[in-house]
Amino acid sequence: MHYRRLGSSGLQLSALSFGAWVTFGAQVGRSTARDLVACAWDHGINFFDNAEGYANGEAERVMGDVLVDLRLPRDGFCVSSKVFFGSAADPRPTQRGLSRKHVTDACHAALKRLRVDYLDLYYCHRPDPDTPISETVLAMDALVRQGKVLYWGTSEWSVGEIREACRFAKAHGLYLPTMEQPQYNLLHRERVELEYAPLYGEYGLGTTTFSPLASGQLSGKYNAGIPAGSRLAREETAWLGEQLRGEAGEARLARIRRFTAVAASLDVPAAPLAIAWCLRNPHVSSVILGASQPAQLRQNLEALDLLDRMDERGWQQVKAATA
Ligand SMILES: NC(=O)c1ccc[n+]([C@@H]2O[C@H](COP(=O)([O-])OP(=O)(O)OC[C@H]3O[C@@H](n4cnc5c(N)ncnc54)[C@H](OP(=O)(O)O)[C@@H]3O)[C@@H](O)[C@H]2O)c1
Repeated sequence: MHYRRLGSSGLQLSALSFGAWVTFGAQVGRSTARDLVACAWDHGINFFDNAEGYANGEAERVMGDVLVDLRLPRDGFCVSSKVFFGSAADPRPTQRGLSRKHVTDACHAALKRLRVDYLDLYYCHRPDPDTPISETVLAMDALVRQGKVLYWGTSEWSVGEIREACRFAKAHGLYLPTMEQPQYNLLHRERVELEYAPLYGEYGLGTTTFSPLASGQLSGKYNAGIPAGSRLAREETAWLGEQLRGEAGEARLARIRRFTAVAASLDVPAAPLAIAWCLRNPHVSSVILGASQPAQLRQNLEALDLLDRMDERGWQQVKAATA
C-alpha cells in the first residue's frame, strides 16, 4: 500500500480506501462485510468511509460491529461519516441538512453506530441551501474542539461554497475544511481537475474521491447489458441505469467499450486500470473503492502495481479512448 497526506494535513491515508455505500446493511450480509473490511485491512487500507444516509444508518452499524469484531487498533485506522441526507427513512426538518442541530445530532448518532469515540473524518454530504455556510462551519469547528471530529470536510460542494467556508473559518480563527469528497473517474473529471484546481494551492485541500469505476461501469460489466445481481440491477440504485440509456447513454457506453478494449490490448483488467488512472492525479489523497465481494476488492487493489508498471504511452491510449 502507498500512503498519502490528506491535503496539507499531517494525516496519512492509504492511497486506496474502502467505502460502504450500497453494500453494507443492504446488498451484502454481515459476514461478507467482515471479509471485505478484513481483506482491506490486510492489504494496508487504513480509511473506511461511511455516511448517516447509507442504508439509513445500518451501514454504519455493520461497519462499527465489524471494526470491533476484528479488534482493529483504533489508532491504526480512520473512519468517516457524512451528514446531510439524514438516517431516518422519512426525515423530519431537523433530521437532515447542515444546521448546527443536525450536524451535531448526526455526529453523536454516527459515533454510537460506528462504536468509536471520535470520527477521523466528517463530511457535509452536500451543500445545504437552507443553512448559512457560517453556521455549518461553526458547528464543525465546535465538534473538532470537543474532540468528536478530527478533520472535517465537504462532499460535492462547488468551488465557491468551499472557498466561502475556508474564508469564513480563516477570518474567525476556526478550523478550515481539510478535504472534499468528489466523484472522480475517467468519465467524470472536470470538478477535480479544473474546478477545484485553485483550492489545492490556496488552502491545501485534500480529496478523497468516490466511484472510481462509475459504480462498476468502468469494469466493463455493463458493456453487453445489465447483469443480474449487479448494482445497476438493484431497485434502489436503478437510477444509475439511466446513465446508460438513450443517446447520451449510448455515447457513454461507447467510451467505456473503447476503454475496456484498450485495457484488453494492454493485457490488464479494466477495473484496476481505471482506479490506477485516478491515483495518477497528485491532488487525490485517497481513492475510495467499493466492492460487493472480496474478489472484486482484491482485483481492484492491483491498481497499485499498475500505477508503477504502466508507461506514458499506455496512459495516452486510455485518455484518448475515454475522451
Ligand atoms: N460522497 C458521496 O456522495 C459518495 C457517493 C458515492 C460513493 N461514495 C463513497 O465512495 C465509495 C466507493 O464508491 P462506489 O461504490 O460507487 O465505487 P465504484 O468502484 O465506482 O463502484 C463499486 C461497485 O462496482 C462493482 N465492482 C467493484 N469492483 C469491481 C470489479 N473489479 N469488477 C466488477 N465489478 C466491480 C461492485 O458493484 P456490484 O458487484 O454490485 O455490481 C461495487 O460495489 C462508496 O462506498 C462510498 O463510501 C461517496
